[in-house]
Amino acid sequence: MYSETVMEHFSSPRNAGKIENADGVGEVGNAQCGDIMRMYLKIDDGVITDAKFNTFGCGAAIATSSMATEMIKGKTVDEALGLTNKAVMEALGGLPSAKMHCSVLAEEAVKAAIEDYLSKKEAV
Ligand code: FES
Repeated sequence: MYSETVMEHFSSPRNAGKIENADGVGEVGNAQCGDIMRMYLKIDDGVITDAKFNTFGCGAAIATSSMATEMIKGKTVDEALGLTNKAVMEALGGLPSAKMHCSVLAEEAVKAAIEDYLSKKEAV
């Protein structure tokens, strides 16, 4: 029911952990399943140089966090804001429909971390 890519990212997640002094941190949760995803971004000159995540959630949430961090590294903030849960799911070779909301969490976590970065930047 899960693609090989999903299983691979679940068993060897990329970029799991935390970035000290991150430029943007976003935390989102899903009220129904109770899972939480926290995303940390390091941003230099509008480019995402590092991304890490902490996900307290299901396997699909971990796999989508892992893939999402890989997809936004090296991207500009604007490009990363355009990341959709659909693109993450496609990169993972699909997800069962009952697990679609897990990928939505990844899209929202990236957006929340970028919004945090942008609001801090404005405050300077
Ligand atoms: Fe909640 Fe997957 S079941 S994020």
